[in-house]
Amino acid sequence: MARIVAFSNQKGGVAKSTTVEAFASELTSRGFRVLMVDMDAQPGNLSLHVGADKGRPGTRELLAMARPSEAGVAACIQEAGGFGDVIAADEGLDAADDRLNARVGRERILDRALAPIQGRYDFILVDTPPALQVRTLNALAAADDVIIPTTAGLSSIAGIGSVLDVLGDLAEVAGHRIGLVGIALVDWEARLRLSKELRVVVEMLAEERGARILGSPVRHATAAAQAQRHGKSLGDYAPGSDVLADYRELVTAYLEALGLEQA
Ligand SMILES: Nc1ncnc2c1ncn2[C@@H]1O[C@H](COP(=O)(O)OP(=O)(O)OP(=O)(O)O)[C@@H](O)[C@H]1O
Ligand SMILES: [Mg+2]
Repeated sequence: MARIVAFSNQKGGVAKSTTVEAFASELTSRGFRVLMVDMDAQPGNLSLHVGADKGRPGTRELLAMARPSEAGVAACIQEAGGFGDVIAADEGLDAADDRLNARVGRERILDRALAPIQGRYDFILVDTPPALQVRTLNALAAADDVIIPTTAGLSSIAGIGSVLDVLGDLAEVAGHRIGLVGIALVDWEARLRLSKELRVVVEMLAEERGARILGSPVRHATAAAQAQRHGKSLGDYAPGSDVLADYRELVTAYLEALGLEQA
């Protein structure tokens, strides 16, 4: 059964989608079967970066199913080359939130929809919008693990706390316990004094709230944005880059934390 991993931070533009894409291509190249689920309706979202056809059924159809069947869910999946498979999101997803909000058990819709195909994959990676709204709640409520990407900025770090608060509520109200809560320091200018100070802040927050920092920081590098612009994975676009090496280490740190790879 796939582990479902939600990538979330309340703050926008903190490399959530970039991190999902890097995990997807790295895990795929290591032989894992990977599905990405795009829960973000923004035009420049993950679906665009991985070359998905937004005209085909995707997240909107997935979340609209009253009784998800294996064939129905499979029809929402498309191949995304070196990234594995994807359930894509288009701009119409925002407009469907009213319907989601009106449903009974509204934060467990994704969890129930993924169940029929969970045996087909090793990892299901869920990208979320930069807000703690109903789709983000669905991602967190479905998750076995949560990875919180954060850049070296105060609002990004504040966004970690908001995600941890929701996880606390989910545990208390719905009895949903997360396996691993990992903070990923990404797009991180490690040499700057401010970054060093902020790292200490994140370490304290993690310690206090039962989360952990995964591996070492992923450096800032223009290759990250350029790869997305070309619709390529970092491995294809910039095989010798530092940022790819950093993401590889991050994936290894995650697998080690799960006990799937030896430290
Ligand atoms: N390590 C990096 N070095 C340089 N730029 C990066 C790095 N990681 C991500 N970026 C760039 O930062 C921008 C924001 O990244 P991304 O879209 O992944 O963030 P996001 O958190 O998913 O944003 P949103 O909240 O809007 O969904 C993008 O232009 C991306 O290319
Ligand atoms: Mg994003």
